[in-house]
Amino acid sequence: MTATAVAALEQSFDVHTIVGAADPASVIRGVADRVRGIAGGKVDGPTMEALPKLEIIANSGVGVETNDISTARSRGIIVTNTPDVLNDSVAELTVGLMLALARNLPRSDRYVRDGSWTKGPFILGSELRGKRVGMLGLGRIGSGIAARLQVFGMQIAYHGRTEKPGQPYSYHGDLVDMAAWADWLVAIVPATPETRGIVSRPVLEALGPGGRLVNVARGSLVDQPALIEMLQCGRLGGAALDVFEGEPEVPEALRRLDNLVLSPHQGSRTTEAREAMDAMVVKNLVAHFAGEAPPNRVV
Ligand code: NAP
Ligand code: 8YV
Repeated sequence: MTATAVAALEQSFDVHTIVGAADPASVIRGVADRVRGIAGGKVDGPTMEALPKLEIIANSGVGVETNDISTARSRGIIVTNTPDVLNDSVAELTVGLMLALARNLPRSDRYVRDGSWTKGPFILGSELRGKRVGMLGLGRIGSGIAARLQVFGMQIAYHGRTEKPGQPYSYHGDLVDMAAWADWLVAIVPATPETRGIVSRPVLEALGPGGRLVNVARGSLVDQPALIEMLQCGRLGGAALDVFEGEPEVPEALRRLDNLVLSPHQGSRTTEAREAMDAMVVKNLVAHFAGEAPPNRVV
């Protein structure tokens, strides 16, 4: 968390820091009988069980599945998140990844640095204008991405469990149908049991050799072995990935591919978003311990 947020927490609470500690487990053991709240997240079941007085986890991030939610529920531990304040940060990165893939920006940077340019011109890229983008998820972040892509002159459709009234974009009740229609598929839905593997082999096949996948949500959404295989043999045109199953480990097979832009889960990693997210974390903790309902409770 930012130094400002830690200072704000210290005004109201005794703060014990685990991140960066030489032995995080011993820090937890030393204060286990006194911990009533956690700022940050990624709390597993055994850690929750080791903290008998834990009342609230103020998660930094929208997706709270990185915590053991079933243990939190069974123990009556409140979980809060940080929606909306990171929408712009994630949407801007998504557009950046799409432009990077369409114009081969990582390769073009290497091309100049390693002197290849002196031997011949660079490959041709493609434009976003006029292309079709299927949004898998048109929620808070998805809407922000779609609005930006509309400015680029892209045709936009979306898939979700429900059609949203008043949207200027066409709705596809079937994801494979939308993938067959689209040139680009952007995944921005939560990681849930229902969305595990939702970007399946049939979806990737429907997207096809001219199609490109962008995943800025969670690695669990995508059938990663199918993705690797299809990128390797050209049955999928390309991909831009900010998130991975098993991150920060990224399979060697993915790292070797050229029709791919890779990003280290940095959707919300801007100063602006992180300051706002941290402020929400503090606000939720302060409200809870003042006896009020935390404003961003999700569990
Ligand atoms: P949101 O506002 O809740 O939107 C989620 C969208 O997903 C909704 O449009 C919802 O539509 C759709 N959806 C949910 N379940 C679905 C299903 N089973 N099948 C199809 N569509 C489904 O969430 P958000 O704030 O935009 O955030 C979305 C996710 O982005 C987060 O949960 C997180 O995992 C990820 N994220 C990543 C980063 C990053 O750094 N890369 C940063 C922030 C968030 P329906 O209800 O109509 O189905
Ligand atoms: C964070 C995210 O990087 O909000 C989310 O769901 O994925 C990101 O904002 C992540 O939660 C780790 O802090």
